[in-house]
Amino acid sequence: MKIARFSRIGFILAAAGSAVGLGNIWKFPYITGEYGGGAFVLVYLLTVLLVGFSIMIAEMLIGYLGRKDTVSSFEELAPTYKDLWKFGGFQAMAGLLIMIFYSVVIGWIFNYIITSLEYLPANVKEAETTFNLMLQSDFFTQLFYHTLSFVIITYTLTKGIKAGIEKINLVLMPALMIILSGMFIYSLSLDAFPKAVEFMFAADWSKLNSEAFVIAVGHAFFTLSLGMGAIMTYAASMEKGSNIVKSAFWVVFLDTSIAIVAGLMLFTFLYQYGSGPAKGPGLVFISLPAAFYEMGILGNIFAVLFFLALAFAGLTSAVSLTEPMVQYFMDRFAFSRVKASVLMGLFFWFFGIFAILSNIDGTKEYLFWGGKSFFDWIDYITAAIMLPAGGFIMAIFVGYVLEKSRVEAALKPFLKWAFEPWYFFLRYIIPIAMFVVMLNLMGVL
Ligand code: TRP
Repeated sequence: MKIARFSRIGFILAAAGSAVGLGNIWKFPYITGEYGGGAFVLVYLLTVLLVGFSIMIAEMLIGYLGRKDTVSSFEELAPTYKDLWKFGGFQAMAGLLIMIFYSVVIGWIFNYIITSLEYLPANVKEAETTFNLMLQSDFFTQLFYHTLSFVIITYTLTKGIKAGIEKINLVLMPALMIILSGMFIYSLSLDAFPKAVEFMFAADWSKLNSEAFVIAVGHAFFTLSLGMGAIMTYAASMEKGSNIVKSAFWVVFLDTSIAIVAGLMLFTFLYQYGSGPAKGPGLVFISLPAAFYEMGILGNIFAVLFFLALAFAGLTSAVSLTEPMVQYFMDRFAFSRVKASVLMGLFFWFFGIFAILSNIDGTKEYLFWGGKSFFDWIDYITAAIMLPAGGFIMAIFVGYVLEKSRVEAALKPFLKWAFEPWYFFLRYIIPIAMFVVMLNLMGVL
């Protein structure tokens, strides 16, 4: 059987497509608003650069050397205790769990693309009512668009690495970048732009509590798609002889610049036409549409384009969240690609229904435990526990378990003098940092 591999640019776009997602355009701006701007952004940037980039290289390396699904790659590469290490690969389950709410949110975005064509809320109050109406009482609209998102994602996965994953990224990623650049350039011309810059980059350290710190670190993982095996699974289909370091650099660079550009643009619009930096998950669904309303017909056009870009970002990430388990069932249980894709799709589609119901009046009471809804629990368990744990395991695996000679052979030609500092970082700094973050997120510290 001929093995399909990404082209070089195809791999970088697919990995960047995985990284650039709802995390960049939806979550990053609102948590930046929530945790006060500048200082938070700086912690996030430092984490991305120091921790994120290093683990990105490590995760790519495991996939690149292992060449299989996540479980088999760990098993294959571990020199001893193979049966134990293969459990590192079951992190891939986190992707399917994330998909339970990710697909629902992509559904909201589809709904907003359509409604923004002719309707925008006249003020924040009305926008809030509109959003809550959808969230809390419109089960069928949410189900319909969640199903649409399931169909697109599953169909792409059935087409495989080349005709499915590479292709959707080759089309949607450039489209996303064009839309965002266009809107960003427009925002440069507005008076409020310097205010947005100040909000995002002027660090007021007094606003940085330990919670903000931990959230910034956790987000760095989520936004770079690290710790779950998405990057690992894509890297298993990299061309032989690829420059892992360069690819990792491009993915980190694109992900970070798109988050910054989206943040600057959104805050400019909110300062110029809205009520300033809004907080909370409602930022792009509530405050932003109300700001677009002030722009007249241009606002409708911008709203549609913005939600399109957001949908593109979400879909390419969703594909990468599901693919690791698809690959797992293909490699370990000899499932056909179609069968594996449909089954994994049905999994998140089915549980996604409960994520919707956990916000709907009348059913949400039954899907609420310990202060969190089902929807929030999934978010918390994956982002706060599973991803940092996965990053920890990968750092230990590459830093201590894989033979140093193998790691060196694969990376030294590209890292050169930076190899030893990187290796040191991976062995000593990152495990400790990850451990502290995990304890903190779980509320132990
Ligand atoms: N990085 C994506 C975002 O920012 C989400 C994502 C895709 C992800 N694949 C992942 C998160 C793997 C963690 C692990 O929205």
